[in-house]
Amino acid sequence: MTQTEQFKKEWMPDYDRFQFSGWRLLQQFRPKDRILDIGCGYNLFKEKLGDRVYGIDPANDAADELVSWEDYKPKAEFNVYLALGSLNYGSEEVVEAQIKKLADITKKGDRIYWRQNPGTGPHPWKDNDDVVFYPWTIDKNYEWAKKYGFYVKTCHPDTGDRIYAEWFKGNEYEYFAFLTQDKE
Ligand SMILES: C[S@@+](CC[C@H](N)C(=O)[O-])C[C@H]1O[C@@H](n2cnc3c(N)ncnc32)[C@H](O)[C@@H]1O
Repeated sequence: MTQTEQFKKEWMPDYDRFQFSGWRLLQQFRPKDRILDIGCGYNLFKEKLGDRVYGIDPANDAADELVSWEDYKPKAEFNVYLALGSLNYGSEEVVEAQIKKLADITKKGDRIYWRQNPGTGPHPWKDNDDVVFYPWTIDKNYEWAKKYGFYVKTCHPDTGDRIYAEWFKGNEYEYFAFLTQDKE
């Protein structure tokens, strides 16, 4: 069974479970944010935030658009991107290309919220060779963020052997300027 078929058939969300990358993310969003949820699954943030969220996913009819990140063509502007367990599969080359696309599409000041599953904990697809977890690490976050022009605001473990990360498009000084403006 292909990865897309597997996600279509078996996968269910649980935003109560994750300490940082589940419902708590709602605290991170500002009223003006326009959010692209990459690999949105059941598009649950859209249920809470309505049209401020646009979900894409190749495997779930709840998405606003049934498309992979690789094939997605921007039709609207967003300033917040969610990659919650979605840019997480395949080889180093595949995931790095996904991040390069993120870097090409985002502009200074945009924010990315991540849940990464290195595949080291329990998961239902141990026996399916078509679902290959990219072994994300905290070091990789810093390496790729630096290479592609992001500042890592935070990166640390989340529930269930996941990694939670927040990236900001720009450098550390630009991030602090953003925080100042955010309070005005
Ligand atoms: C573990 S689920 C997480 C879904 C949702 N983000 C959540 O947190 O509940 C991973 C989702 O990412 C999607 N996905 C995998 N590869 C993708 C890609 N290249 N582009 C877009 N979505 C992808 C899958 O179809 C699946 O729905």
